[in-house]
Amino acid sequence: SPYRKPLIGTSWKMNKTNQEALAYLQRLQERLKDVSTSVFILPPFSALSETRRFLQESDSPLLFGSQNVHWDDAGAFTGEVSAPMLKEIGCQFVEINHQERRRWFSETNETANWKIHAVLRNNMSPIICLGEEKRETWDLTEAFLRYQLLQLLAGLEPAAAANIILAYEPLWAIGATEAASPAHVAQVHVLLRRLLTEKYGTTVAQAIPLLYGGSVNRQNAAGLSLLPEVDGLFVGRAALEPDGLADLVELA
Ligand code: G3P
Repeated sequence: SPYRKPLIGTSWKMNKTNQEALAYLQRLQERLKDVSTSVFILPPFSALSETRRFLQESDSPLLFGSQNVHWDDAGAFTGEVSAPMLKEIGCQFVEINHQERRRWFSETNETANWKIHAVLRNNMSPIICLGEEKRETWDLTEAFLRYQLLQLLAGLEPAAAANIILAYEPLWAIGATEAASPAHVAQVHVLLRRLLTEKYGTTVAQAIPLLYGGSVNRQNAAGLSLLPEVDGLFVGRAALEPDGLADLVELA
């Protein structure tokens, strides 16, 4: 993956009109002038074109992408958006398998896998979320993650796998009061790197950024980003304002 570490990004989830998106980007641009870290934002579909226009016109190094995609490249799927459409707008990333999509839109490992293939086939990088739903013993957590990772990456050859990004987001830490503990995050990230190495070998496994997401904030960002095998952070609430994201980028 060509991204500098740490890779820090945010999804706006279902927030921000075009006008609000523009105000955010203008402020963020001012704050991040001298920063060399890779930073990405995932606006809602409706703000992608405006985001691209702003970033192009201001010659910004910020990266952007969408929060969802359909698995077919075109067809009779009312209300859906395809990977070629996103590629044309200039998206570098497409987020897949966020816990909120699983919970509210019944997405599964299988549909996520189809979407991952669609994103890669259209030369973008999927940001693939994964994570357990409950706090369990380590043995159960490990078994869950091993199974989910294999399902998500089914049919993915090493050359394609080198272009993915993984975001570890345990359901119980999203929108919560506290992030997962540093010890837990480190243990999971070491496991994920090992599973990727078993499947794809060291070179590909090392190329895949492993992000942590779930209640990242100003207090915990620096500590989390220094953990073994943590290549970056994926932020929700704490980056909903541009100064929040800029502060986190500086801290990490
Ligand atoms: O994708 C990041 C998000 O799910 C985490 O949300 O608000 O807990 O940082 P938040």
